[in-house]
Amino acid sequence: MPDWSGKGKEQAVQRMFTAIARWYDLNNSLLSFGLHHRWKRLAVKYLFEPSAGACGFRSGEVSAEPRYALDIGAGTGDLALLIQPRMGEAGRVAAVDLNQAMLQEGLRKIAGRGLHGRITCLRANAEQLGFRDNSFDAVTTGFCIRNVSDLLGACMEICRVLKPGGRFVCLEFSRPAHAWLLRLYDWYSFSLLPKIGTLVAHDRTGVYRYLPASIRAFPDQEGLKALLLKAGFRHVDYYNVSGGIVAIHVATK
Ligand SMILES: C[S@@+](CC[C@H](N)C(=O)[O-])C[C@H]1O[C@@H](n2cnc3c(N)ncnc32)[C@H](O)[C@@H]1O
Repeated sequence: MPDWSGKGKEQAVQRMFTAIARWYDLNNSLLSFGLHHRWKRLAVKYLFEPSAGACGFRSGEVSAEPRYALDIGAGTGDLALLIQPRMGEAGRVAAVDLNQAMLQEGLRKIAGRGLHGRITCLRANAEQLGFRDNSFDAVTTGFCIRNVSDLLGACMEICRVLKPGGRFVCLEFSRPAHAWLLRLYDWYSFSLLPKIGTLVAHDRTGVYRYLPASIRAFPDQEGLKALLLKAGFRHVDYYNVSGGIVAIHVATK
């Protein structure tokens, strides 16, 4: 049985992502029925849309100052690839991840789109990012934060590197809003999903059994909102997507 606490969790999670990196995009599309593309597009929409108490980015806005965004747990680069083209010529995105194999896949996609001059892939831990205080206009993370060992610590670290008034958009699995959907979702994620995922990725690490267990252990919509406020954000909203299977939290520093 893997050790899911502290460093033990970090190492186990990294072993899993190294094992499936090549198959990650294919499995993501299969297991979410292609929905993850929509979830990511929506998260990026919330990053750029003006909302209460947040400056946000404005799509296509031309600024004399380069604007900086950070995508944490960038993996194969989908969010960074959606964000950068909306930032204008001067916009730069740092796509960071702890896992070299996932970043390698991301780098290939980013280079393929000719965006390697504007999106920089770096190895960094969400819990200790290594950037100066107030460095980024915006921070995003997609399906990563659930994997960290110290969730409150990671949220505080994200708040630290964000500029005052900047926006953090967190896309993560959450709690389905209806009892029938929760039952269906539990059946799918604990019975069917591990079988398909394991088969497609030829996985021996148990990553597709870890996935539903980690979702169940993660705070629900209100729980994550409370945590983000505790971490230092001054305003937090969230939006349920696909009946609450996924939630997008938008937090302003
Ligand atoms: C489920 S993938 C999500 C990838 C991508 N954001 C997406 O939405 O497709 C989770 C990613 O988070 C990374 N990750 C997990 N723990 C991390 C940590 N403590 N710091 C940085 N990245 C981490 C993993 O290596 C993996 O690439």
